[in-house]
Amino acid sequence: MPIKSRIRTIPHYPHEGIQFRDVTTLLKDPIGLRTTIQEIVTRYQSIKIDKVVAIESRGFIVGAPVAYALGVGFVPIRKPGKLPAETIGCEYQLEYGSDRIEMHVDAIQRGEKILLVDDLIATGGTMEAAAKLVQEMGGEIVECCFVVDLPDVGGRAKLEKQGLKIFSLCQFEGN
Ligand code: PRP
Ligand code: MG
Repeated sequence: MPIKSRIRTIPHYPHEGIQFRDVTTLLKDPIGLRTTIQEIVTRYQSIKIDKVVAIESRGFIVGAPVAYALGVGFVPIRKPGKLPAETIGCEYQLEYGSDRIEMHVDAIQRGEKILLVDDLIATGGTMEAAAKLVQEMGGEIVECCFVVDLPDVGGRAKLEKQGLKIFSLCQFEGN
């Protein structure tokens, strides 16, 4: 398990009862980083992908090298107020309160095949919002790709019910 075994678990962070799955230990390891990117690239290299769209900030770490290796463009979805040109945005719920992500309106052309990338899916709220932005611009989502899935939190099941395809390199039960 070259990937899962390199992900560190921090108990009770950021709140009591939460097991934080920390990918920094995977990314700092040369085999861990290479295997992570290579496994994702291998999955998609023979599928038509026009762009990789990744979510600030941890999603960028994975999404950009995947786009580079696939030979396609990279689109950032960012936290509010960071993108300089015209944007569309989507609000999503957090455990406490809400947040918002934004994408440039000219980032995606109608009909383009989009690979969505983030590091981790828990509630799925972040990726659900990202998928809405891509679909609003007419992008066709090939799959939502993650390094880590926390299936017991329910995000994967929720997004699959909406018709999205979900892939993760590893899963952690519990949490
Ligand atoms: C984390 C993680 C995912 C999201 C998953 O990002 O990187 O993007 O939460 O949670 P969800 O499935 O419940 O929406 P965070 O918002 O902590 O920000 P970061 O990537 O900038 O660290
Ligand atoms: Mg994130």
